[in-house]
Amino acid sequence: MKLFLSVFALPGLTATQGLFNVGKPKQGETIIVIVIVTGAAGSVGSIVGQLAKADGLQFIGVVGKNEKADWIVNELGFDAAINYNSDDLDQQLAQLAPSGIDLFFDNTGGPIQHLIVERMNAHGRIIVCGLIAGYDKEVAAARPSWMSVLKRRLTIQVFTMPDHFHQAPALLEKLTPLCNGG
Ligand SMILES: NC(=O)c1ccc[n+]([C@@H]2O[C@H](COP(=O)([O-])OP(=O)(O)OC[C@H]3O[C@@H](n4cnc5c(N)ncnc54)[C@H](OP(=O)(O)O)[C@@H]3O)[C@@H](O)[C@H]2O)c1
Repeated sequence: MKLFLSVFALPGLTATQGLFNVGKPKQGETIIVIVIVTGAAGSVGSIVGQLAKADGLQFIGVVGKNEKADWIVNELGFDAAINYNSDDLDQQLAQLAPSGIDLFFDNTGGPIQHLIVERMNAHGRIIVCGLIAGYDKEVAAARPSWMSVLKRRLTIQVFTMPDHFHQAPALLEKLTPLCNGG
């Protein structure tokens, strides 16, 4: 039942559409995935991470608690995790992605978004899936520096699943073999 409510429903479709059809990851790139992990039922970020792993990509997850960091690394197979409540976020990003970041799947926004953009490589891509850190704020958070985007020639692509529901059969074709261990 969990599979039908998470992987084969909105979170799984969103993760697949965002990672493969919007992000178009290439082997050798470092993907930073802002992971939103609410538990074993899974959510967009945790599925993105598992899809990326199945595709042989290197990826880092960002979470809000050390227990979630342990879970995504030790259970889900992320290469590394960052707790966005740490004091040394920039140092951690530098250490974990020494060659920079090519693809950034943003589920949250928030202060770490700015630090990640500053560490992105030329021609990097940002997939804006959600901005949960800002939904309850009356004033929108300051956006990352337009100058940083310009210098790096970044592509920023927002997507929402209702625009892509007609692609669900193809997305499920990609997801289903992975859930069967294929
Ligand atoms: N584009 C689309 O079509 C589409 C479709 C579905 C969902 N979405 C979006 O994708 C994002 C993830 O959705 P989901 O269903 O995976 O969410 P979810 O399972 O409800 O995850 C919620 C998590 O957000 C994190 N969070 C809450 N406040 C935060 C803050 N201020 N800063 C950083 N993280 C915070 C928490 O994780 P921590 O404890 O780790 O902080 C929380 O567990 C949301 O922004 C949602 O709106 C977009």
